[in-house]
Amino acid sequence: MLVVLIGYMGSGKSTIGKELATVLNYSFLDLDDYISHKENSSIPELFKTKGEIYFRKKETHYLKEVISTHDNTIVALGGGTPCYGNNLNVLLKNENVITCFLKLSIPLLSKRLFKEREKRPLISHLKTEEDLLEFIGKHIFERVQYYNQADYTIVTDNKSKQEIIEDIL
Ligand code: S3P
Repeated sequence: MLVVLIGYMGSGKSTIGKELATVLNYSFLDLDDYISHKENSSIPELFKTKGEIYFRKKETHYLKEVISTHDNTIVALGGGTPCYGNNLNVLLKNENVITCFLKLSIPLLSKRLFKEREKRPLISHLKTEEDLLEFIGKHIFERVQYYNQADYTIVTDNKSKQEIIEDIL
């Protein structure tokens, strides 16, 4: 079984995924790290040198590769992964995959992401927390239709890591 965590940037997919994997005695895989490793480049560098369209093509390619070559694994996707191409349907149609949406409110996402925006090429240009808040609001409006199709939704506001993991379990 693969448990695939989806959700916006900063929603805790990697942090929660690692701990969940330990609890379940599963492996953990972060799709961004997998892409970086395979492409021999960090994600910001990949966006800069090859562009977002190239990144999205590779993201789709490596998502399919990961799904077909792994089992008993928690997979943290990139925030955009389920929102491009046929990626979401590939996940939903696979009987070996459970999708889980980690849902965090926009103000909390914004607060968390402001400090870490350099690592994320889609938001690294935003100068103030107000700009980021506005950007996230519009961006999530486009993406939530994809996230909402996950098998399970876990609202994570004001919950400890332990509580989130219990909810997923
Ligand atoms: C992206 C999210 C990032 C990474 C890339 C694009 C997005 O992953 O894949 O910067 O489109 O939301 P995280 O959700 O792990 O930050």
